[in-house]
Amino acid sequence: MSTTEHRQAAAHARLGQSQPNAAPLFHHVNLKTTRKAEMIEWYQRVLEMDVVFDHPAGAWLTNDSANHRIALLALPGLRPDPDRRFHDGMHHFAFEFGTFEELNSKYLRLLDERIEPSVCMDHGMTLSYYYADPDFNFVELQCDVFGDWDKSQDWMRNRLAEMEFVVGAAVDPAKVAHAAAGGMGIEAIHAKAYEGGFTPETPPDLGTPPPPPGVPPILRV
Ligand SMILES: [Fe+2]
Repeated sequence: MSTTEHRQAAAHARLGQSQPNAAPLFHHVNLKTTRKAEMIEWYQRVLEMDVVFDHPAGAWLTNDSANHRIALLALPGLRPDPDRRFHDGMHHFAFEFGTFEELNSKYLRLLDERIEPSVCMDHGMTLSYYYADPDFNFVELQCDVFGDWDKSQDWMRNRLAEMEFVVGAAVDPAKVAHAAAGGMGIEAIHAKAYEGGFTPETPPDLGTPPPPPGVPPILRV
C-alpha cells in the first residue's frame, strides 16, 4: 500500500468512527468558473479527475473514493477576473504524491501534453510544483521530502524559523528531472534544491503582485 493509500485508509477509518470533538477532515474545494468544459478537461489531465456529475450549473469531480474533491460552479452572472493576481482570496490548493518519483513522472507526462508549471519550489518540507488552471487558480502538486508527515511537521514547527528564505528555493523542474534521470534520489535533490542548486534561468511566476522594493525576499531565486 502506498503512502497516499495509507493516509486515505486512515482517514476513512476515522470517518467511520464516532469521536466526540473530532476535527473535520478536508473534503473538497469549489471553484466558480465561466469555462466549465475547459476546466473539466484540465482537471482530468492534471489531477486524473473523473466526472461524477455534470450539469449546466456545475460539475463535480473526484480522483479517489470521495463523491467529489473538486466542484466547478458555472452559474450565470459570473465573469472572469483578469486582475485576480492583485486581488485577495485563494492562491492555491494542493494535492500530494506519495513519492518524488510519482511527482516527477507526472511533471514529465504533463510536459508531453504541453502543460507546464508556473513555479516550482523546494519549501524545505515539500517539493512543490504549481500549475495555473484555465482560470488562473494555482494547483500545487507536491511530495514530502521527508516522506513522513510527523518529521515534516516537526521541521516546519521547529526549524523553518531559522531559515533565510521562509518559502524556500525556486527550482527548475527540468533540471530536477535531469538529475533524477542520472540517479539522484530525493534526499540529494532536496539538499541541492534548497541551497539554490536547481534555480531556474528566468524568474518564476508566483501568481502574485511583484514584491515592492526594499522588502526582503522570501524565496531564493
Ligand atoms: Fe501550498
